[in-house]
Parts: sequence; C-alpha cells; structure tokens
Amino acid sequence: MFILFVFSLNRAIAEYLSHDLPYKLSPDDAFVTSGCTQAIDVALSMLARPGVNILLPRPGFPIYELCAAFRHLEVRHFDLLPKKGWEVDLDAVEALADHNTAAMVIINPGNPCGNVYTYPHLKKIAETAKRLKILVIADEVYGLLAFGANPFVPMGVFGSVVPVPTLGSLSKRWIVPGWRLGWFVINDPNDIFRNPKIVERLKKYFDILGGPSTFIQEAVPRILQQTEDVFFTKTINILKQTSDICCERIKKIPCISCPYKPVGSMAVMVMFSTDGYAFPETFYLDCREQKRYGMTPLKKPVDLQRLNELASIGYNMVKQGLVSRQVFSLWLNRDPNSKIRALLKRHKLIATAASSTFGDKRH
Ligand SMILES: Cc1ncc(COP(=O)(O)O)c(C=O)c1O
Repeated sequence: MFILFVFSLNRAIAEYLSHDLPYKLSPDDAFVTSGCTQAIDVALSMLARPGVNILLPRPGFPIYELCAAFRHLEVRHFDLLPKKGWEVDLDAVEALADHNTAAMVIINPGNPCGNVYTYPHLKKIAETAKRLKILVIADEVYGLLAFGANPFVPMGVFGSVVPVPTLGSLSKRWIVPGWRLGWFVINDPNDIFRNPKIVERLKKYFDILGGPSTFIQEAVPRILQQTEDVFFTKTINILKQTSDICCERIKKIPCISCPYKPVGSMAVMVMFSTDGYAFPETFYLDCREQKRYGMTPLKKPVDLQRLNELASIGYNMVKQGLVSRQVFSLWLNRDPNSKIRALLKRHKLIATAASSTFGDKRH
C-alpha cells in the first residue's frame, strides 16, 4: 500500500516535469525531498568525494556554499554577467573546471538576479558541460515563474546532451514554502549518469533522509494535476507588477540602480555605486526614505566608498496580502565573502538587514 502511494507521488512529479521535455521521465527518475533545500543537499552529498570541486554561480543562493562546506566539497565561483541578462560566463566556467570538477549549478529562473535563460544560452551551457564532462545541476525552484519575453525552458530539455539533476519544489510556484515538498529528478535519457551504484547510493541516502510528511505527500498528485491556471496567472501578474514597482522605486533612490530588470523568480539585483557622487566619507542611508519605500531601514552610517557591490532586493510577495502595500525588502548577498556583508557586520547592521528567506517558512 505504502509502496503504491510513493510510486503514484513519484509518477505525478515525473509526469508534471515531463510536460515540457522532449522525452518522458519515469517515476524512478524522481525522488521526493523536504523542499528544494533538501534536494540541494542530496545533489551535493552525492557528489562529495575527497578532492572534488563544484562550480557555483556568483551571485547565487548561499545554501549551496553552506552544503558544500559541510560536505568538504571545494567551491569555485563563476560570474553571472549583468550586462548580458545575468547569463553564465561560460569562459570562466571553462577556465575554472579541471578533472576534479563534478558539476556546475545553474539557477533558472534566477535568484537573486531575476533572470530567465533563453533556449540558446541553456544549449550552450549543456554543450560546455558536455565538453568538460560535468553534470549540470539545475535549480528550478522558480520554474515557470517567468514574466518577461523569455519563456521558461527546463534544463532537462538538454538531458540527452548532458545529464541534468533538476531540483524543485512546491514552495515558489504554489507559494507554500512551509509545506516542505520538493524533488530531485534525474534527466538522463541516455543513462550516462545513472548507473546501478549511483542509484543505490541515492536510495540509501533517501532512506536516511525520510522526506516530507505523508499528509503533504498524499496531496501532491492532485496539487500538481489540478491547480487551475488562473492561480498561476495571478501569481505571475503580481510578480510582474511588483517588479515594475520595485524598479521604478529603485530609480528614485540615490546610489542604487538596477542593472537588469527582472523577468522571472522573486528577486532583483541592485547595484550600489558611488560613481558620479561627491559623497563625504560616510553617508547616512536615510531611514525615513527607506521606510517610505518599504525597505528594511539601515540605521547607521555606511561607508559608501566600500559599498560598491551588488546586493539583492526581494520583492517577496510570499509575505501575503500579495504585496498590496507595495512592500519590498533588502536581501543581502549572503555570500560569506561579500564585502557588503562584512561592512554591515562591522556596523552591526546585519540583524536588521537579514534576508527574509528563512522567515518565509514560518508563514
Ligand atoms: C534558488 C533557490 N533554491 C532553493 C531554495 C529553497 O527552496 P525550498 O523553500 O523549497 O527549500 C530557494 C528558496 O528561496 C531558492 O531561492
């Protein structure tokens, strides 16, 4: 009975993700996780071996660095290019990879950059990864949350070029981050990556993890199959609207600009720059001004000479009321090496400016 139930859940996930693929996934390709966060942990744990490294995007989602650190997996960063719609710097990927590189990660639609990659760019990523003999781990937790000219294309479309573990969850598209239901899915129609040893290792690891609660698991097939389009359309409209508001407001804040208007996910990157401004050595970010724009106020002087870096702003409509108050909040780039982070820490501002990501789960 239990086996049948798990099988129908995996089948529902495989069918849902097969909609946009040129081949059909089987239930054996899908593994259920406790949110996408656990799928990230699974992916990195599977790769971890002494000496192995992984390529991560910068800016990116800091849970990857955290998981890698726990697994003693070496991390190398490739840049995303703001002037090219935050595309992957593939030259950097080629330069960073060596025979110990196991995989590269892409986040599409992107957090924190708000990018949605085009088919040709994803194809180039797949071809590069194939050449380098590495996997492409595709974090598609924001899958289908695209509201610009580029439609969302799942990386699994290129599964026959390069094996693609796809990570996702209900958290974003269904706006239920607290339900902790995610998936780790292997897109590998040519069985390049999948061998009995790897599958065995995965199964054993899932025996340890346990996965999400049965209440939620049982609901998943209906959620995936029967959610009405109007729900998704509404979310997309709100995201588009809030991203427009966000970008308009950013224009009015001195020293902050938006290098690329977001076209997907729930975040936008902003550029802090003092160029062209004759500022004194320190500068008080005006709390009233920030409050007016709904931003988390920074109360202490910030040395803008050193604040010349990217940070991310989330226009996080998860905080319900679906942003009718036009609220958006500052999301820090939580890269531990971030100059902004170090700077804010020194000024003891970090607590007020912390990301809302973890808070979401309590709502
Ligand atoms: C890029 C990215 N991956 C994974 C996650 C984690 O998703 P979940 O809440 O399903 O664990 C998030 C959440 O913000 C995210 O932004």
